[in-house]
Amino acid sequence: MASPCIGLFDSGIGGLSILREVRRLLPAEDLVYVADQAHVPYGSRPKEEVRSFSEAITRFLIDRQAKLVVVACNTASAVALHPLRRTFPQVPFVGMEPAVKPAAQATRSGVVGVLATPATFQGELFASVVERFAAGVRVVEQTAPGLVEQIEAGDLDGPVTRGIVDRALRPLLEQGADAIVLGCTHYPFVIPLIQELAGPNVQVIDPSPAIARQTQRLLAEKRIAADGVEPGRVVLYTSGDTESLQAWSARAPEFAGEIERAQWIAGTLATVA
Ligand code: DGL
Repeated sequence: MASPCIGLFDSGIGGLSILREVRRLLPAEDLVYVADQAHVPYGSRPKEEVRSFSEAITRFLIDRQAKLVVVACNTASAVALHPLRRTFPQVPFVGMEPAVKPAAQATRSGVVGVLATPATFQGELFASVVERFAAGVRVVEQTAPGLVEQIEAGDLDGPVTRGIVDRALRPLLEQGADAIVLGCTHYPFVIPLIQELAGPNVQVIDPSPAIARQTQRLLAEKRIAADGVEPGRVVLYTSGDTESLQAWSARAPEFAGEIERAQWIAGTLATVA
């Protein structure tokens, strides 16, 4: 893609939940997305490893004319956002942080549940969000082992997925959480299931629309927004097999685009000739 684009990446298809909102809000922008499906999930990997994947993917996006990069992955944001900003000072980044602030405003019980990966909870970013926004509110952390893999496989509602979501929600509900933050970009794809199992009195908080608005603000601030009226192009790269991404691409009009394969060669991400 020769014209300047917005680059987005995630360990897999999770960041498509962010791409969907960016596409709706900024239809004229060209978007290039990288799903690092060769390495999904990131959540249980050492942080040095996730940092080095994130840096290499960012280089790949910059080579494809990214004028702004959205780290559409909470795990990568937690461990790599600060190093990325230091390594690429010329690039504006939008990162993810668990949406504890709106949850703390929404809760009536005073208990907020956060669903995220182990790496997201260990990062400084999460501690700082809790310190800044959760005064007077109890924040309960919960992982959902296996859920990212189920969503990657396209199983959003089957018995295994339901079991995982049920086990993750139970401790949060038992402790009185009435606001649940989705702290992983894969999880918006199972909102109907989470809402069904959590019940109508629980508010599920999806940060994706706010991330799209932040992207819009940053483009305006840097004066780099696309000025055309034609819909922008969407290119989706995967480091895994293209069939899985193809199936995901068919799920929503916002995901429709060219599907390309990228491959890891000695720590660098490259297109496949
Ligand atoms: N979508 C991811 C996140 O937001 C990554 C999950 C994973 O790969 O473990 O954290």
